[in-house]
Amino acid sequence: MNFATTFLGKQALITGGLGFIGSNLARRLLALGANVTLVDTLHPEYGGNPYNLDGIASQVQFIQADQGDKKQITPLLARQNYIFNLAGQVSHTASMENPQHDLQTNASSHLALVEMCRQYNPQVKIIYSGTRQVYGIPNYLPVDEKHPVAPIDYNGISKLAGESYHLVAQRVYQLRVTSLRLTNVYGPRMYLRDASKNFIGDWFRRLCQGQPLHIFGDGSQLRDLNYIDDALNALLLAAANPLSDGKIYNLGGKKPISLLNLAKLMIKINGSGHYHLTPFPPERKRIDIGDYYGDYTKIYRELGWQPNTSLSEGLRQTLDYCREHKSHDYS
Ligand SMILES: NC(=O)c1ccc[n+]([C@@H]2O[C@H](COP(=O)([O-])OP(=O)(O)OC[C@H]3O[C@@H](n4cnc5c(N)ncnc54)[C@H](O)[C@@H]3O)[C@@H](O)[C@H]2O)c1
Repeated sequence: MNFATTFLGKQALITGGLGFIGSNLARRLLALGANVTLVDTLHPEYGGNPYNLDGIASQVQFIQADQGDKKQITPLLARQNYIFNLAGQVSHTASMENPQHDLQTNASSHLALVEMCRQYNPQVKIIYSGTRQVYGIPNYLPVDEKHPVAPIDYNGISKLAGESYHLVAQRVYQLRVTSLRLTNVYGPRMYLRDASKNFIGDWFRRLCQGQPLHIFGDGSQLRDLNYIDDALNALLLAAANPLSDGKIYNLGGKKPISLLNLAKLMIKINGSGHYHLTPFPPERKRIDIGDYYGDYTKIYRELGWQPNTSLSEGLRQTLDYCREHKSHDYS
């Protein structure tokens, strides 16, 4: 789909707007002529980074707030055409250590936002960022949307709850809601400081710092990945197309890759580096989903989305960005 006019002059609110996906989406929407408002708590343990707005801070409205904060969010809602709901606590291990906090962030605050939309702007189109984690350990591969949901960590439960509030509001109140169940997304502005939120950000940082990549287990686990530009295309396609109302879509990578081969490819593209195979820490093994890759046939058929960026190209662009901006991204 050509977005040349879809978002021109439209109002778009991005929750989690200073995080990885939200801040990249802000750039895309500005380039498409939208008026962009960002909401983010900037909670120190989350993935938000003020530097993610470098070069665009003066072009967006930024509200530091919880998306469920009625007093601060209500006044923003009435004028919005689109809400991209990208706010979240994304750490699986943190969800096990502090489940109430995870529940508040990923479920309660989303229910509050949905209810505010129902009251103050029932016409708005909402794109919710779901996750493959809701499927738990796959019964079959690739995983399509008919696969049973059976989360194996608290984060999967809270994300499923957040998604369900949106979809129930669609069914009961006809809110215009779409959920994209994302798989591993990577690219510039992702969280790099440690391994708490995703393994691949940790690997990018380690490569740039000359440290070994840690692979848990034997490295045979399969994953699929989406470069950020492809994930943004999916968010925009879902927003633009009314066919997506009330639907759930899986995203997926071009093809699955084992973690061992991913590490080798990253090292090759970086031009140097090494890896270690290490036993799974028990707290990670208990919530590991094994092999996963998604079936994106449904979103391809209905919205025309497919991943375009090759893994090599995406990794190269991300590594270039990490090297150039490391003083802002690692601290
Ligand atoms: N990146 C991935 O690989 C991936 C995979 C599956 C799902 N997702 C989902 O996509 C969304 C965005 O992921 P990301 O990688 O950009 O994460 P991120 O951690 O970089 O960004 C999330 C942002 O949300 C903010 N936030 C959290 N709770 C908030 C609240 N209640 N109100 C306002 N702001 C809040 C955080 O401060 C952070 O800036 C998340 O909901 C995540 O669950 C991401």
